Amino acid sequence: MTKVKILDLFAGGGGFSAGFANSRNSDLEFELHRALEINEEACLTLENRYGSHRVIKGDITKQSVKDRILNDCKGVDVIIGGPPCQTFSLAGPARSGSIEMREQLRNDPRNTLYKHFLELVEKLKPPFVVFENVEGMVSKKVETDLSQKQEKVIELVCDELEALGYHTKVDGQDRRYQVLNSADYGTPQVRKRIIIIANRFNIDNPMPIQSHVSNYRTIGDAIKDLPIRLPIISTSRMEKLKNIETLKKYYPVSLDAFMDRMEDLTFHVHSEQQGIKELNYQLKDFYENIKTRKNYKINALHNFINFYNLLVEKLEINRFGENPFNLSHQSREHNFRDVVIFSLMKQGSNSARFMNPINEDYDIVLDELYPYARSKHKDTYVKHSWDRPSNTILAHMEKDGLKFIHPEQPRTFTPYEAALLQSFPDDYRFYGGRNAQFRQIGNAVPPKMAEAIGNAILKTISDNRNIIRPEIIEVK
Ligand SMILES: C[S@@+](CC[C@H](N)C(=O)[O-])C[C@H]1O[C@@H](n2cnc3c(N)ncnc32)[C@H](O)[C@@H]1O
Repeated sequence: MTKVKILDLFAGGGGFSAGFANSRNSDLEFELHRALEINEEACLTLENRYGSHRVIKGDITKQSVKDRILNDCKGVDVIIGGPPCQTFSLAGPARSGSIEMREQLRNDPRNTLYKHFLELVEKLKPPFVVFENVEGMVSKKVETDLSQKQEKVIELVCDELEALGYHTKVDGQDRRYQVLNSADYGTPQVRKRIIIIANRFNIDNPMPIQSHVSNYRTIGDAIKDLPIRLPIISTSRMEKLKNIETLKKYYPVSLDAFMDRMEDLTFHVHSEQQGIKELNYQLKDFYENIKTRKNYKINALHNFINFYNLLVEKLEINRFGENPFNLSHQSREHNFRDVVIFSLMKQGSNSARFMNPINEDYDIVLDELYPYARSKHKDTYVKHSWDRPSNTILAHMEKDGLKFIHPEQPRTFTPYEAALLQSFPDDYRFYGGRNAQFRQIGNAVPPKMAEAIGNAILKTISDNRNIIRPEIIEVK
């Protein structure tokens, strides 16, 4: 096999590289030559996957780091990378934050990180470049230095690549960039990203082949077979919980909803998880006891939750087993109000729907339990369904997972589930704590989509052997 060498800039936990590693065309395959990343935990993930000699830990804006890259990466064939995207994002504070916050983002130095990417392209002159970013970059404008005229960042990046001798036009299109949806490439998730493929050979750039346009992979396909995970329910400051009054008002209804969820789960347990049936059995006993007291009693609810937590913790010991990936398949803690919300919501619905009386998902208990400002955050809770791809997996999952509620279990997705929904291989291990893992996973280019991009580039190399191959072989 001929190895086509990649330099992955802003490599994160390595989604882009993981996909390229699976691309093939005749005797061509990619090899990760070097990955640059600033974040400690992401570097650990990369080092363990690819070997520490391939990882450059550092800040791309530092000259010493650039020098090391230039020194280590002479003759690299493809530079791939997605500079951080917070400021171009269509989600979060870039769209809905306060005026001050948006102003701060506008002046954020991360806005210009792409320039460092281009500087390394200019100096290393690889045959191919792949630039990836969030869809929001298509509409994002910046002032150009000279004229102070507003220009689209995406067009600027293309212009600069052209000025460096690259051809950016997409084959059969008038455009120089493509908007890809990861679901079209076999990822069980809808995630739109822009890519620019550029080459030094004046050849129009390929469009990756869409393998799954009419048969999207679903959440069920990706994670239904995983062992059940139950959340620990926090009891600290329960009396202070927002809308605890509603919980009191609908006390039996809320408890029933949670117990029904638990009961449902016992129908789906794996043979090695029979402990969940026992847990449910014991919990039911306790529940029958407190249910007869018609009025809300904080102590009784506390005792009930503590008993549940004890049973879950006991189960935990049985669940870890030998598999290290179990460590990332653990639920975060939730408060009881949220667990009740998760239990009551219908699969495939969100809070904007359950708060709207003209909608078939409208639910008065949920409507009253909803704890956020309705004017700004209507769709804070999203419960996914088995038979559809997931919404875009976000790095925001490190803060909370409310937009990623599991279709059946009363909790939000685990990091392991998020990674599978991003189409990472099931043996891909992320380092760092839960938040660090969510960040790496949520930031990643879905490997299945990256694989399709890689396949398209290898095919272009293969189809243009006379022009491109000599350059790739020459530098070996
Ligand atoms: C959008 S993520 C890239 C995800 C990656 N392409 C993947 O597929 O997994 C951007 C990454 O750039 C890193 N980063 C941010 N500023 C950096 C800098 N100044 N130098 C190097 N890396 C940086 C962040 O830590 C983050 O992991």
